[in-house]
Amino acid sequence: MSKKKVVFLTGAGISAESGISTFRDSDGLWENHNVEDVASIDGWYRNPDLVIDFYNERRRQLKNCIPNKAHLIVAEFEKDFDVTVVTQNVDNLHERAGSSKIIHLHGELTKACNESKTFVTDIGYNDISKGSRAADGSKLRPFIVWFGEAVPLLETAIHEIEKCNILVIIGTSLAVYPAAGLVHYAPKHSEIYLIDPKIPNVSSSNIFFIEEKATVGMEKLVDIIKKND
Ligand code: APR
Repeated sequence: MSKKKVVFLTGAGISAESGISTFRDSDGLWENHNVEDVASIDGWYRNPDLVIDFYNERRRQLKNCIPNKAHLIVAEFEKDFDVTVVTQNVDNLHERAGSSKIIHLHGELTKACNESKTFVTDIGYNDISKGSRAADGSKLRPFIVWFGEAVPLLETAIHEIEKCNILVIIGTSLAVYPAAGLVHYAPKHSEIYLIDPKIPNVSSSNIFFIEEKATVGMEKLVDIIKKND
């Protein structure tokens, strides 16, 4: 028998217990910065050096973080299910936990690119130097999808969600589109679970809410899914 397909849609909350701050739990500030200054294409045009410094700092922080139990349980699902992770996170904690199929909707901290994003390179945890140029002569920049930019992997994510039997949403305020709209692509008869200590507003009716932190919520989810099988 073929394995059931599970899609995990994750946001900043799944990495909170690994020590990475979420975006909207601190009054619109992200690591003491205005989100518009460090996470929008206009912010980049206004002050690229500030943006480079900011993501260099995020990369250094990531190096010292480790995946938590929730990332690990997501990876363990691959034993019994056909799993895709669709994440809004730019950290690499799903990879380091062992997940093998991950769609990073908003880019990846450990990569850099040219300004037209046609050339992408792995930089690991190294800094991007201010004033560095990419192969085409444009500024080398973090490989992140900022506010005001297209989300190229959106269609790929939609295709995965359209085929799922189970959708599990973890740690996202569902405040940022188009990612927030992905829940509506789950097939009618799929099971949908949402794990978050502060359940966000969501218009879909058939969602089973698990009002817990990601680590505790994932353990509960495993019990529920075992019982249902
Ligand atoms: N476990 C699970 N969820 C948690 C935890 C935790 N330990 N701690 C906080 N949360 C929840 C919050 O209750 C909130 O619903 O995580 C969610 C975090 O929401 P946001 O900060 O808005 O993060 P996210 O939804 O990932 O943001 C989406 O916005 O700024 C952009 O591009 C950025 O990818 C990001 C996007």
